[in-house]
Amino acid sequence: MGIQWRESLSIGVEAIDNQHKELLVRFDRLLNACQSGKGVEELKKLQTFLGEYVHSHFSDEEELQRRHHYPDYDAHLAQHKYFIDQINTLEAETTLEGVSTHHVVETNNMLLKWLLNHISKVDKELGTYIQSQKH
Ligand SMILES: [Fe+2]
Repeated sequence: MGIQWRESLSIGVEAIDNQHKELLVRFDRLLNACQSGKGVEELKKLQTFLGEYVHSHFSDEEELQRRHHYPDYDAHLAQHKYFIDQINTLEAETTLEGVSTHHVVETNNMLLKWLLNHISKVDKELGTYIQSQKH
């Protein structure tokens, strides 16, 4: 059971959709690695990737919102901060305790779930707003 980007997740902004695709590809690798018992190794790779990619992805999205004077900017920003906090907490825990299976499970359950929910609701609302500005 992997995860794939699907058209229903499109927010109508190609650059952002592509970044979401990349994020899901990386989470999919973790899900696949779990099936072959390599979840712990793959989680380390995902953490390294997320540590950089999420910051640049979120700042691209936030920049887009500022450019379009998005009215829900503050609430959206707060959601991004929450996710970054979660990643930092995971990083702190795994640095202290080492990566173990429960971190892998938490990442699949919490981070991936948050991401899909965020894209399909909060980012999609942003996409709808930007589309509406074009007309
Ligand atoms: Fe977002």
